[in-house]
Amino acid sequence: MLTLGIESSCDETSAAIVAEGRRVLANVVATQEDLHVPYGGVVPEIACRAHLVEMVPAIRKALRDAGAELDDVDGVAVVHRPGLIGSLLVGLTTAKTLAWALDKPLVGVEHILAHLYAAALDCDDDIYPAVGLVVSGGHTSLYRCRSPIDTELLGSTTDDAAGEAFDKVAKLLGLGYPGGPVIDRMARDGDRTAHDFPRPFLAPDSFDFSFSGLKTAVLYKCKGQPPGRGKAPEPGRWEGGGLSEREVADMAASFQEAVVDVLVGKAVGACKRTGEERLIIGGGVACNSRLRERLEEACGENRIRLHLPPRKYCPDNAAMVAGLGYHLLRAGRTADLALDAAPR
Ligand code: KG4
Ligand code: ZN
Repeated sequence: MLTLGIESSCDETSAAIVAEGRRVLANVVATQEDLHVPYGGVVPEIACRAHLVEMVPAIRKALRDAGAELDDVDGVAVVHRPGLIGSLLVGLTTAKTLAWALDKPLVGVEHILAHLYAAALDCDDDIYPAVGLVVSGGHTSLYRCRSPIDTELLGSTTDDAAGEAFDKVAKLLGLGYPGGPVIDRMARDGDRTAHDFPRPFLAPDSFDFSFSGLKTAVLYKCKGQPPGRGKAPEPGRWEGGGLSEREVADMAASFQEAVVDVLVGKAVGACKRTGEERLIIGGGVACNSRLRERLEEACGENRIRLHLPPRKYCPDNAAMVAGLGYHLLRAGRTADLALDAAPR
């Protein structure tokens, strides 16, 4: 059974063909990164216009790479939430049109759950039941996953997502956008113990996350405390800035270590609490080398089986959408043409 996956929730236009929900025959990702770099972040209007340009060529290329025709496709799976509304609508409208024209079933996929499914792609192991941690630019969430389509939310971010914190701290350190990969790189030469940043675990039994205080702690360490306690900061008047390359590396490494401590601590804690013996990770931040290293160590020590997707399936891509779509399709969870996009 072949599923065509379509993803356009943020700034990647992606189309993929996946066989039996597992084998990736094609995964085309057209990134818009260069369009957004001058603005230091994703500009929604630019993103949805670029999706309009890139979507049909991405689908054509995916079919070519897979050696398939549109008629060979057994179902069309599309991310319809959450994401930027204009961007989502481009993928959703394309998927609806194809499903209607080809008379094939349409499946609506949740982006965050698709990230968790990435670990199953091109993989023969059974990865369920498991605890699932999604760490992306927009989300940091912990799930209990009984199967790919039977999941229960254990906790999520109360403010900044992990990737968002990486991006904001990178901006603060003058490292540009997107911040995650460059902090990852800089941190390799830095001292992780140079700064003792807070580890926001919240309540001891909480699986929620909060990274905005950590980001502010980095800001204060870089630029000094704002004048007048409790007052709104006036960045222009702050002392500091102009860090040396060594200082930036130390700051990046210490910040990254604090984020990783929390992510690993909560993920392992969730496995212990639920009794699950497997841990699945997904999302762009799952590319982070220190996070991958620490997860392997912690899972080894705690006899947890770790399922880390290859880096190519961690950021936004349509293969994970087609894969999860296959399971929804088989379960009869198809959608009609009234399927709507939703930002949350
Ligand atoms: O999953 P994703 O592609 O998009 C969303 O669904 O948000 O994740 C993008 C996020 C960005 O915040 C980016 O900075 C972060 O993933 N990221 C990383 C790394 N590579 C990408 N964060 C830390 N280390 C990395 N190596
Ligand atoms: Zn994502």
